[in-house]
Amino acid sequence: MGSGILTASYIIAAIFFILSLSGLSHPETSRRGNFYGIIGMTVAIIATVASGEVTAYGLLIVVMLIGGGIGTFLARRVQMTEMPELVAILHSFVGLAAVFIGFASYLEGVDFTGVEKTIHDVEIYLGVLIGGVTFTGSVVAFGKLKGVIDGKPVLIPGRHWCNLVLGVLCVILGGYFIDATNVDNGTILLIVMTLIAFLFGVHMVMAIGGADMPVVVSMLNSYSGWAAAATGFMLSNDLLIVTGALVGSSGAILSYIMCKAMNRKFLAVIAGGFGTGSAGGAAIYEGEAIGQSATDTAESLKNADSVIIVPGYGMAVAQAQSVVNEITKRLRDSNKNVRFAIHPVAGRMPGHMNVLLAESRVPYDIVLEMDEINEDFSNTDVVLVIGANDIVNPSAQTEPDSPIAGMPVLEVWKATNVVVLKRSMASGYAGVDNPLFFKDNTRMLFGDAKESLGEVLRAL
Ligand code: TAP
Repeated sequence: MGSGILTASYIIAAIFFILSLSGLSHPETSRRGNFYGIIGMTVAIIATVASGEVTAYGLLIVVMLIGGGIGTFLARRVQMTEMPELVAILHSFVGLAAVFIGFASYLEGVDFTGVEKTIHDVEIYLGVLIGGVTFTGSVVAFGKLKGVIDGKPVLIPGRHWCNLVLGVLCVILGGYFIDATNVDNGTILLIVMTLIAFLFGVHMVMAIGGADMPVVVSMLNSYSGWAAAATGFMLSNDLLIVTGALVGSSGAILSYIMCKAMNRKFLAVIAGGFGTGSAGGAAIYEGEAIGQSATDTAESLKNADSVIIVPGYGMAVAQAQSVVNEITKRLRDSNKNVRFAIHPVAGRMPGHMNVLLAESRVPYDIVLEMDEINEDFSNTDVVLVIGANDIVNPSAQTEPDSPIAGMPVLEVWKATNVVVLKRSMASGYAGVDNPLFFKDNTRMLFGDAKESLGEVLRAL
């Protein structure tokens, strides 16, 4: 393939990636966005394979079949609730790939001299550094999201100093690496820096508390993009640079949005330690939570004019979205004002609830973001909290020492009646008790959300 055709193909692929990102930013256009992404990636792979740079076709086909096979198997098998873990582990692959490619580029050697060599060495060094942090950071994030690593932040004494020392060490080693005159010395320096980067990735994510995981996941998403862009520089591949920059910058914007949604400072989250509480930790609430039956819940709904439904992670676990849609239809047919309130970090990934509700065909115009609906709870007859916990926890506003202090929450307790659907009194992802359950206007409908809502629907 001529270089003109290759460049044109890369530009076409890049345009598809941009269209894909813009499509994915809204539920109505997200399918199309996904489709554009598939076309862009197909063009990119075909153009790269046909570019003439690849010679080992046999090997390439074998590894593509293995990688594609594993990817297809995992994507078909993964539950919606396990999606964040899958995304986290996929980020770790991008990081590890950047590390491997960095080492391969260095060991292969290039004919560059002078400034060109220095630039190439800096690209390798940065690529391996970002890749290393992304790799281990994502593996720990995977473990925390899957629950195999405790979600509580691990705070070693003087951790900020540790980070600073590791950062300064990387800079000093980088200087020696660029000055290294033989490959053996350079390789040793690169290995030492990689180990520091691995350590830094583990330390950074271990120090972050459960409630701040959304920011970490989107931040690692951004890092994986920058790692890919650095790989693009190493390989002189323009498309990889553009794609990496797109992923890196969109991940950074998402992290910023997440931080705003959680009322956190980005740098403070990265420095770790949030989700801990400054003194004393979470308060324990004592009191009696009052249970109620599905029939009583149906009765309250029948008597209500306005209803707001707040979905959370539990709705995803129970796969209750279709029954929720049926109940919504039934209530709207009886001329009730039914709306959904979506918290920016409800569930376990950005847009989690929007995807589930869109999948079950809830109309988009009644699905509102937190800022659009938070003031309406005080004029609402019944709020149905379906498998949500942290995002409706009033202690975020009232307990300055709470791990979730300062996080904006949906003020459901201001409604006349609140019904919380969950299986037990267990806490949510952040591990904080929720005083909402003990309020006078709150009733608990215990049980799996899908089963409970099925009974409510029958009673309606
Ligand atoms: P959570 O606070 O995790 O609460 C979910 C509740 O659902 C649990 O208390 C659980 O109580 C209940 N539940 C689980 N399975 C259920 C079932 N089958 N039927 C009924 N209820 C069920 O969820 P949330 O309110 O959506 O808040 C999200 C949390 O996740 C936040 O802390 C957020 O920071 C964090 N997080 C979010 C993201 C993103 S990007 N969205 C990523 C990582 C972490 P029972 O066990 O008693 O049933």
